[in-house]
Amino acid sequence: MSVHYPKPIKVITGHKSVREALRDTQSFSSDLQGDADVRDYRQLPLEVDPPRHHLYRVALAPYFVKPTIEKLVPIFRAHADRLLQEYFKNPPADVISTLALPLVMHNLGAIYRRPQDVAEWISWGPDVWTAESHVRDGKVLHEYLDRIYEEAISGRTNDVWHEIARLEIEGKQISAAEFRGIAGVMLAGGRDTVVKLFTGIMWHFGHNKVDLDLLRNKPELINSAIQEFLRFLTPLPQMNRTTVPESTTQDLPDDRYVGISFISGNFDETVFENPFHINLARGRNPHLSFGFGPHTCLGNHIAEIEARVFLESLLSSNYTWKVHAEDIHFHISNLESVPDSFRKLELRLI
Ligand code: HEM
Repeated sequence: MSVHYPKPIKVITGHKSVREALRDTQSFSSDLQGDADVRDYRQLPLEVDPPRHHLYRVALAPYFVKPTIEKLVPIFRAHADRLLQEYFKNPPADVISTLALPLVMHNLGAIYRRPQDVAEWISWGPDVWTAESHVRDGKVLHEYLDRIYEEAISGRTNDVWHEIARLEIEGKQISAAEFRGIAGVMLAGGRDTVVKLFTGIMWHFGHNKVDLDLLRNKPELINSAIQEFLRFLTPLPQMNRTTVPESTTQDLPDDRYVGISFISGNFDETVFENPFHINLARGRNPHLSFGFGPHTCLGNHIAEIEARVFLESLLSSNYTWKVHAEDIHFHISNLESVPDSFRKLELRLI
């Protein structure tokens, strides 16, 4: 999930300042509308402030809690084992399109009880806004959202969309626009972020067999390894806030946006020793990859459980690989060793 906004005039950086800003929803409000080029509705609960924000969080929480997701672990494992085997049968193939994206979409199909949609979601590619198009237009996503809303409202389905369409906020069933906003984030939030996490894990082990061997010998490090991959890769590096809540006035200054740099917090040397080194045994790891404060990622347990199963599957396999070809866009200035986006990654077994 990356949201497009006009470039902010100011960006808040550093672990402490970022956390303070994320908690201060009055000065740095989420009452804003991103992706204005491709949508005219709010993504929810992302683009609303407390106290209304809290009502959406409470309504959606049951879909994201740990015990609900843990029940799906055997299904995630079967997906990971099968897709890894298929991937390494025909190397070198692209990790993003033939392993990471299909895996994340199959898992989401199980979570949302929509396995019939998985092939369609995969066909969109990693970014929902550019599906079937070279430019951002959102047409494919919006056609899908309208179709599932119609289906859900007419009562023909028995899945997550059916339940979401009937959610009540303050005793009132949500509108079609609210459904778009919620379902859109549920589809986009756990897509490019987790794809980037899985791709980054394969990339790191492709360059650092020592770390793969370390985890194979010490599987008790899996959880700290997941947190370290999340920190280093920071799949969602920055989001915006507005200093003027957009629904309070028509008079909106152009310079109202402030960027909140999660990634700057993750590489803050006052908090993380040697932050540019991927240390899978790193102890305390208060990374900001899932944000902080009221909007902390709702899908964090999903991402962590999916990552744990993926790593367990990798470790119990006999595969060891190196990078055959890569096309990576790195961050700039002092973060130039940190991947921003993976465009292609091909691996070879060794
Ligand atoms: C590695 C994977 C992920 C990363 C790095 C990530 C990152 C984030 C971040 C930084 C935010 C906070 C945005 C802000 O403060 O403006 C967020 C919010 C959110 N994420 Fe994730 N996310 C991940 C996976 C997921 C998954 C798997 C889902 C669901 C399937 C999901 C759903 C959401 C939702 C619904 C929100 C909005 C929460 C709110 O506004 O209260 N995310 N995510």
